[in-house]
Amino acid sequence: MVLENISSQQAIDLENKYGAHNYHPLPVVLNRGEGVFVWDVEGKRYYDFLSAYSAVNQGHCHPSIIGALTEQAGKLTLTSRAFHNDVLGTYEKYVTEYFGFDKVLPMNTGAEAVETAIKLCRKYAYEKKGIAENEAEIIVCENNFHGRTTTIISFSNDEDARKNFGPFTGGFIKIEYDNLEALENALKSSNNIAGFLLEPIQGEAGVYVPSEGYLTKAKALCEKYDVLFIADEVQTGVARTGQLLAVNHENVQPDILILGKAMSGGVYPVSAVFSSNEIMDVIKPGQHGSTFGGNPLACAVAIAALEVVKNEALAKNSEKLGKLFRSELDKFIETNDLVKLVRGKGLLNAIVINDTEDSSTAWDICMKLRDNGLLAKPTHGNIIRFAPPLVMNEAQLLDCVAIIKKTISEF
Ligand SMILES: Cc1ncc(COP(=O)(O)O)c(C=O)c1O
Repeated sequence: MVLENISSQQAIDLENKYGAHNYHPLPVVLNRGEGVFVWDVEGKRYYDFLSAYSAVNQGHCHPSIIGALTEQAGKLTLTSRAFHNDVLGTYEKYVTEYFGFDKVLPMNTGAEAVETAIKLCRKYAYEKKGIAENEAEIIVCENNFHGRTTTIISFSNDEDARKNFGPFTGGFIKIEYDNLEALENALKSSNNIAGFLLEPIQGEAGVYVPSEGYLTKAKALCEKYDVLFIADEVQTGVARTGQLLAVNHENVQPDILILGKAMSGGVYPVSAVFSSNEIMDVIKPGQHGSTFGGNPLACAVAIAALEVVKNEALAKNSEKLGKLFRSELDKFIETNDLVKLVRGKGLLNAIVINDTEDSSTAWDICMKLRDNGLLAKPTHGNIIRFAPPLVMNEAQLLDCVAIIKKTISEF
């Protein structure tokens, strides 16, 4: 038997010896999850306060998603797009109506969907706007995180993500996030601007919420200059911030929407790009695709996962518990010097630790949180992101707040 019971230390040793060291995980080895909880191999239970970077919004192993997975897995898993399958069309109708777009292009991971959106935006610019070939430019934001492909890291400013991975892809202009003047200056600077790509809240950078009105005004500027507004909601989407999409907080309809992660409740890699017929129809056979994109297993899982979001009113719960979380932590911060502030929307939140960016304080606090039964992870700088599954109830949230307060007070 290849898979057998092993201890936490054995599991960590195997990863260290045989796996690439491209992550720095908290030392905890999980082997079971249910709802808001995960268990390590020694049987200790933890609150999951990261939700696989907001992929497990519906909670671990949600029975109706797992039901859809096992039922479809017993029938048909993959045909590739060389043939039709009987789930894809139903899924495409369901998901476009769900998010309010004409058409969808199914992919698997977030980074692939971002790549897809970039290609779509460029092609539309050349074929519909008349930008000269190879001249299209896309505006992006400082401190963005859109994934790790070569093109995407070309416009990142995370040196770890970029160093020694060049040469990079051109055609991107970087501006300050949450700065409308910078956006308008960039839009004015050239006739070759095809799109503006942004995260409605910068998750990976440390949960930076832009000023109220920023999204609405940025969208209006894009319309004024005839530039596509592209929202990357891979992390913020699917009820995470207290609305189905974070752009819904400001009633903004993106020209291109990118989703991933929680589309499948963390059960299977499912991502997608949405747009109007006019934009999506520039893509013709052979111009883009993926062997697994739109496979019947992914489609069945995603429908079930999105039904959970609707039936269990997860956006509403996220909004309500997010307010409670921030108000509880705000009260605590007044009495404690170690945490500077809490910020976020819905259940996508972060605390900023009162220490230098390069200190290990955030990591050390996460280790203590682990010991106290709650799993979270520092993000860039001295910031800890808190993003529990959205199926959490109020008593559980208050229990988690108590763990966080106790841990930080004792630190
Ligand atoms: C906003 C955003 N876009 C894209 C990605 C990349 O997604 P994936 O890791 O599935 O490629 C992430 C991942 O965290 C993300 O937060």
